[in-house]
Amino acid sequence: MKTGAGQGRYADQNVFITGGSSGIGLATAEAFAGEGAHVAIFARNPGRIEEAVARIRRARRRGDERVAGFPLDVADPTRVREVMTQAIREFGAPHVLVNDAGVTYTDYFENITYEQFDEILHTNLYGMWNTITTLLPAMKAHGGLIVNVSSIVGFLGVFGYAAYAASKFGIVGLSETLRMELKRYGIRVCVLCPPDTDTPQWHGENRTKPRETWALAGNAKVMKPEAVAQVLLAGIGKGRFMIIPGTEGKFIYIMKRHFPALVAWIMDRDVRKAAAKGV
Ligand SMILES: NC(=O)c1ccc[n+]([C@@H]2O[C@H](COP(=O)([O-])OP(=O)(O)OC[C@H]3O[C@@H](n4cnc5c(N)ncnc54)[C@H](OP(=O)(O)O)[C@@H]3O)[C@@H](O)[C@H]2O)c1
Repeated sequence: MKTGAGQGRYADQNVFITGGSSGIGLATAEAFAGEGAHVAIFARNPGRIEEAVARIRRARRRGDERVAGFPLDVADPTRVREVMTQAIREFGAPHVLVNDAGVTYTDYFENITYEQFDEILHTNLYGMWNTITTLLPAMKAHGGLIVNVSSIVGFLGVFGYAAYAASKFGIVGLSETLRMELKRYGIRVCVLCPPDTDTPQWHGENRTKPRETWALAGNAKVMKPEAVAQVLLAGIGKGRFMIIPGTEGKFIYIMKRHFPALVAWIMDRDVRKAAAKGV
């Protein structure tokens, strides 16, 4: 599915990106457009879509790649079917689907309402189910790639992220299964697990983060969305399944995998200290 470097690594490939109007999704859309892809983005807010489409157009490699935005709530399965069908009519079937749309409420478990839990699960996890089930028949015709955006919190439960972690662990499980199942159609699946990244979502969650969460993540390096997008494209190029941008994230992954009790001990200690200090 890759083409010559002069044309861009994704020349004339159709790339669909949910959540492509902001943050990591927008940076990813710009990166694909810079590699010659036709890019369609999907998000709820039409104003932000319009601004993002203008940015993606400026990032195009040749300048004649198609770029379009579609207002869509990925949590609504009926609308996903209608809008994605329209996008296929306009673009053709996607060669690459990036499931990036996501929301979070970061707070003590007791402060997270049922409605917030429901929104997180329906956007982050059911949203993925909705897009993949809708687009799979078209993608099966020529193969392709599905990128599901999870998080460090998709393999490490962290204080303050109860609902979000439930959704992001679910995404890793869904992706591992699909990796095996969709291989027979020539469809690759990978999962992106970004660390804290400087986006509107990250700034939003900082307003309600418990002090214990700050103690655990406060000193972590915050990445730029453009850097995350570059790591994603490099990881795809290398055929990686689990793509973890940044050295800290990779270190946490290895530690959690091989020394889970030690990781839990360190985190409990930091939480205790933060609670005692009341900072
Ligand atoms: N930033 C971080 O620190 C971080 C770390 C790890 C993982 N992530 C994950 O990376 C992904 C992107 O996050 P971000 O930080 O780049 O956030 P962001 O800047 O807030 O962008 C989120 C994108 O998702 C869209 N979106 C949200 N709910 C949607 C829905 N129901 N239907 C369709 N689109 C929806 C938003 O547009 P509308 O609001 O207009 O719909 C926006 O385009 C998310 O899955 C997030 O969980 C982020």
